[in-house]
Amino acid sequence: MKAKLTLNKDKIVSKIDDRLYGSFIEHLGRAVYGGIYEPGHETADDMGFRGDVLEVIREMKVPLVRYPGGNFVSGYHWEDGTGDKSKRPRRLELAWGTIETNQVGIDEFQEWSKRAGSEIMMAVNLGTRGPEEAGNLVEYCNAVTDTYYADMRRKNGFDKPFGIRTWCLGNEMDGPWQICHLEAKEYARKACEAAKIMKWTDPSIELVACGSSHSGMPTFGTWEETVLRECYEHIDYISLHSYYGNRENNTEEYLGSSIDMERFIEKVVAICDKIKEEKGGKKDIHLSFDEWNVWFHSNEADKQIPRWSIAPPQLEDIYTMEDALVVGCLLNALINHSDRVKIACLAQLVNVIAPVMTVNGGKVWLQTTFYPYMYASRYGRGTALVALCECEKYSAGRWESVPYVDCSAVYNEEAGEVTVFAVNRNMTETVDLALEFSGFTVESILEHKVVNHDDMKATNSAMNPEEVTPHDGETKADSVELEPHSYNMIRFKVK
Ligand code: AHR
Repeated sequence: MKAKLTLNKDKIVSKIDDRLYGSFIEHLGRAVYGGIYEPGHETADDMGFRGDVLEVIREMKVPLVRYPGGNFVSGYHWEDGTGDKSKRPRRLELAWGTIETNQVGIDEFQEWSKRAGSEIMMAVNLGTRGPEEAGNLVEYCNAVTDTYYADMRRKNGFDKPFGIRTWCLGNEMDGPWQICHLEAKEYARKACEAAKIMKWTDPSIELVACGSSHSGMPTFGTWEETVLRECYEHIDYISLHSYYGNRENNTEEYLGSSIDMERFIEKVVAICDKIKEEKGGKKDIHLSFDEWNVWFHSNEADKQIPRWSIAPPQLEDIYTMEDALVVGCLLNALINHSDRVKIACLAQLVNVIAPVMTVNGGKVWLQTTFYPYMYASRYGRGTALVALCECEKYSAGRWESVPYVDCSAVYNEEAGEVTVFAVNRNMTETVDLALEFSGFTVESILEHKVVNHDDMKATNSAMNPEEVTPHDGETKADSVELEPHSYNMIRFKVK
């Protein structure tokens, strides 16, 4: 099959905000305990952080990590995770039915994120708590004043503020499953007042208001309008969350999941612009897609986990080859909408629906989905180009028109490189993708990495961690060969 990709130096989507390649660590399952933190592990550092995990995260260049939840945050007392560890309370954790030991909190996590080379995106509890506690947390983390919470931080051993710039005003407050779920108007008022206090405490921070938990929520649309009308002046971003899965075992349909993500983004952008116009506002509200991924494999197993366990193996999806293709397409959708999506978080990072897995007391291993995420994060920095791809389309399930080839392209001016990310959704045919560069001269092909496997259900595991790993592909200056059902990352040196 033939297809053509045209890239023009002057046709750009946007400069990409590095936070587009963010991720997420929640106090859930083995993400924290047994994931990033395991004192006694042979690679543990002076604070009990697993060195093998840190090494992989640094390799991925994760720019931003959302913390501490997720549903967890809506019942969380941030003070529990500060100060003397031996005095920290053990608590019933109501979002996931576990026991939280609080051996890791913001005191430790801010240090972990430094060691990982990431920024923190901090979420505040707008479920059981409210604006005052949110403001106190901003003071604890960011203030330089001689005042109660900044002094508390100093007493806990941190003279220098943590300098957290990106903050979430709660989590999925539209969802009835959320601890202290709110109606749109109730959330909008609470978020607005929290935002005022938080920005008065530190005017340099950026705030993300909760949008819908997914585009199928019955309140989707009216929720965003209500929140934006109330909070427009005080916030910078609205959030989107979405998880995908191949529940019908229809691979061709499943590979079209990114169409849903694109439509969701476009609808939210339209609402943001409508409210801006209504307000006669000057600023655009941008999008924070702060939870996205594939999540469905572990749903049944999670029902068997006994209540009140400590760090049980919750949400441990084991990802297949086809999941890696979907993740590749979802990343393309984010890059292609980077004019409005400024922040995005692959949910999550370690053990919980994650690209990076650990064995307690054992090794770290990488899922199939690690590769598209790692390549996008490492080589997707710069300016997103309009990726004009001419190719045939197919229909499957609920999709009428899915392009066989899904692409994005990023120009990194500093490095003098253009990177193309391409997924061939064709199950049987190789695609010969002709490349037309305009405004660039290709000097050389730096690398072409392919993630592919004959079996779309192939997975990696602790015992067999290299079942699905990248291999080199076939590229010329003017064309790329895309194997059937493959993910591809191709880097060109350009002038
Ligand atoms: O990422 C897992 C969960 O998914 C998060 O806690 C929640 O926000 C979402 O429903």
